[in-house]
Amino acid sequence: MLLFVNACLRDGSRTERLAEMWLGRRAYEGQVRTVHLAELDVDPLEAAGPNTISAYGEAVAAGDYDHPMFDYAKAFAQADEVLIAAPFWNYGLPALLNCYLELVCTQGLTFDVDETGAYVSLCKARRLTFVSTAGGAAPDLSDDHAFGKVRTLATHFWHIPQIEHVAAWGLDGLGADVEALLADAL
Ligand SMILES: Cc1cc2nc3c(=O)[nH]c(=O)nc-3n(C[C@H](O)[C@H](O)[C@H](O)COP(=O)(O)O)c2cc1C
Repeated sequence: MLLFVNACLRDGSRTERLAEMWLGRRAYEGQVRTVHLAELDVDPLEAAGPNTISAYGEAVAAGDYDHPMFDYAKAFAQADEVLIAAPFWNYGLPALLNCYLELVCTQGLTFDVDETGAYVSLCKARRLTFVSTAGGAAPDLSDDHAFGKVRTLATHFWHIPQIEHVAAWGLDGLGADVEALLADAL
């Protein structure tokens, strides 16, 4: 199963289009399961609210993951491949995707810690692709907190060996040829 985490929030999103172009080219033969964050109520971990940090902590300590907040992590762990699509916002990720990733990063579901303190992956995925578009030019790698964050999680928690960034930059520049920039990104 290829899990498509769609964090594109705008009508007519260019990032969504780039992700669909990428999916068409990928021609994945298994099932594609889409999680469209715009249509979901992904609540952050909070002191009070649907997903409290205390309930989260107690569940992780007990290894009891029945609460619906853990459903995203369970599905993520089962994916053979992951595609994440998100626009570049304020040098980082949209908050909704951060909320989703916060829940996906649950110890005991997508990663664990061994007796030496090292992270052990509980994910099946061997490949993760991050698709993004940005209005401006590509920043230095150390200033890219979008792909930078995804790459760090995929490397250190989930041990995904193949991590790719498909990015179109400069889409909001005066006279930008958006179609050409999207095609080039592929
Ligand atoms: C809230 C917000 C924050 C943005 N921050 C940045 C930014 O930090 N750097 C940049 O190059 N473009 C930024 N942009 C422009 C978007 O990255 C760009 O328009 C992108 O192509 C939008 O993708 P979409 O068409 O899929 O919505 C921002 C746009 C919005 C709405």
